[in-house]
Amino acid sequence: MAYTVPKLTDYSAAALEKAARECVGACTGEAAEVRNDAELKAFRDRWMARKNGILTQINDLWLKGAPKEAKREAGIRVNELKARITELVEGAHVAGSGGDSLVAERVDISLPGVRRPIGAEHPVMRTWREIVGVFQKLGYSVAEGPVVETDYYNFEALNFPPNHPARDTQDTLFIAGQQSKPQRERLLLRTHTSPVQIRTMEKMRPPIRIVIPGTVHRNDPPDASHSPMFHQIEGLAVDTNITFGDLKGTLDHAMKALFGSSVKTHFRPSFFPFTEPSAELYVTCFICGGSGKRGADPCRPCKQSGWIEVLGCGMVDPNVFEFVKDNGYDPKKVSGFAFGMGVDRLALLKYGVDDLQYFFQGDVRFLQQFG
Ligand code: PHE
Repeated sequence: MAYTVPKLTDYSAAALEKAARECVGACTGEAAEVRNDAELKAFRDRWMARKNGILTQINDLWLKGAPKEAKREAGIRVNELKARITELVEGAHVAGSGGDSLVAERVDISLPGVRRPIGAEHPVMRTWREIVGVFQKLGYSVAEGPVVETDYYNFEALNFPPNHPARDTQDTLFIAGQQSKPQRERLLLRTHTSPVQIRTMEKMRPPIRIVIPGTVHRNDPPDASHSPMFHQIEGLAVDTNITFGDLKGTLDHAMKALFGSSVKTHFRPSFFPFTEPSAELYVTCFICGGSGKRGADPCRPCKQSGWIEVLGCGMVDPNVFEFVKDNGYDPKKVSGFAFGMGVDRLALLKYGVDDLQYFFQGDVRFLQQFG
C-alpha cells in the first residue's frame, strides 16, 4: 500500500525515530520502482511538491501539530528527515536500460574537461642545466659525488689541515656519533662540491675537464638569501700548462654565454685553501647593466656597485695534487684551475626573485610563473 503520512500523537524520541524510519523506507522503495521519465516526475512531485507533497504534509502534520514542549526536538528530527528525503529524491533515476535511461544518464559533452596541469621546470634546475650546458659545449663532462661526505674529502684533501681556521668559514653540519672514528673518516654533509675534485682525480688520470653539479649543506638559518641546503656547480680543468689566462678566458666566455655577450668580467684576489692564487669573479650587474641605478632608484641586487659576485675560483694548489699524485697528478708536471658557483643565487638574480625561500617552499603559484 502506498505510503501516507501518519498523524503523530506520541512525540517521544523513539516514536519520532520510528516515523522517520518508515518514511525513509517508503521513499527508498518508491525510488527503486521508477521505470521511466514520467514516473520519475510523478515520484518527485509526490514527495517534493510544495503544495501537498509528502514533505509539506510532514511539515504540517508533525511540526505544526506538535505540543509546545516537543516542538524543538521535532523540528530537529523533521529537518534531518527532509534532508535525507531530498537526497533520495534528487538521487533517484530511471532504472533499467531503456531509452529513457539514456536521457537520464546523458553525458554533457559541452562541459569543460578535466585539466591536467602541465609541469614547469624549477628555476633552480633550469639554471643548473643552463650552466652545465655551457661547459658541456666546451667539452667538459659531468661528474657527481656523495652528499654525505668524509672529513677527508670535504676538508683534508682540499688542503684544510685539521683545526685550520678556514674550516670555520664553512659552517659545517656534522653527522652525529662519529667521535670514535679517526677525524678524516668522520661523516658530514658536504659544504661544497669541491670534494668531487679529489674523487674524480682519484678515478681519472689527467687531462680532465669536468663540471660537478650538486646539493650542498651549511648550518645557515633560512632567510631571504640563505638556506641550509643549496646547489653548487664546480668546475675543474687539469692538463699540462694550464694557466690563469685559461681560467680567465673560460670563465669570461661562460659568463657571456649565461648572461649575454655584453657582460664584462672582473677578478678580485681572494683566498681558498685549495687554490693558489684564488679569486672571486664579478660580472657587470645584469639588472642595471653596470650603472648601479634602476631609473632614479639605486640598484639593489648589486648594492649600487654595478658588479655582482658570481663565483670563487683559482689555480689548483699544488698541495691538493699531492693527495692524488700517484694517479698522474704530479704538481711539477700538471697544473689546473677550479671554480665553484652557487646555482640558487644565480637563479635569484637571473629571474629577479627577491627571496630565496620561494625556491624551496613548493608553492605552485610561485612555480607556475616559470611555466
Ligand atoms: N668551494 C668554494 C666555496 O664553496 C668555491 C670554490 C670552488 C673556490 C673551486 C675555488 C675553486 O666557497
